[in-house]
Amino acid sequence: MDSVTLKDKLFTPFIGEEKIQASIGEIAEKINKDYRGKSPFFIGVLNGSFMFLGDLLKSIKLECKVSFIKVASYEGTTSTGNVNELIGLVEDVEGEDIILVEDIVDTGNTLEKLHELLLNKKIKSIKVATLLYKSEVYSKKFPIDYIGIEIPNKFVVGYGLDYDGVGRNLNSIYVINNN
Ligand code: IMP
Repeated sequence: MDSVTLKDKLFTPFIGEEKIQASIGEIAEKINKDYRGKSPFFIGVLNGSFMFLGDLLKSIKLECKVSFIKVASYEGTTSTGNVNELIGLVEDVEGEDIILVEDIVDTGNTLEKLHELLLNKKIKSIKVATLLYKSEVYSKKFPIDYIGIEIPNKFVVGYGLDYDGVGRNLNSIYVINNN
């Protein structure tokens, strides 16, 4: 794999396609087992989760629903659970077994906000699946039920994740080159 330049920054190969797909396969297998006999409702957090959720769903053998939600980006510090900043979820989720699907969990601010919003909607249960997890930075108490790959606190792009809007279409993950 070659390095890529996105706008003004150089990114070097970090996680290859094969490793990504293997880890998605493992998550799918666990979900298929944990939700046997149930009909979960997957909610992808836009924009970054679209590729992960797409590939994950191909290996989900359960009857399930799928939707997306988008959170307005944070500026400076966040006031937790400000539901007014949310757009997107129009479906009725009352009584549903929700699986929230994130591309990456960093501080957990997004997760905290979505958790609060969804709990107010009388859902039956909620679990979280993320492809990438920055364990050094995560500062919230919510359990993350399905974790693909733990990564250090470095900026990554590709496979849905962007740098200033670009790089989402890369089919593997690259890390910023700070040299
Ligand atoms: P959190 O709210 O701090 O957990 O961050 C969640 C969001 O920040 C993710 O859904 C991404 O959109 C973005 N993000 C965090 N780390 C990275 C990264 O390394 N590359 C690209 N986007 C990131």
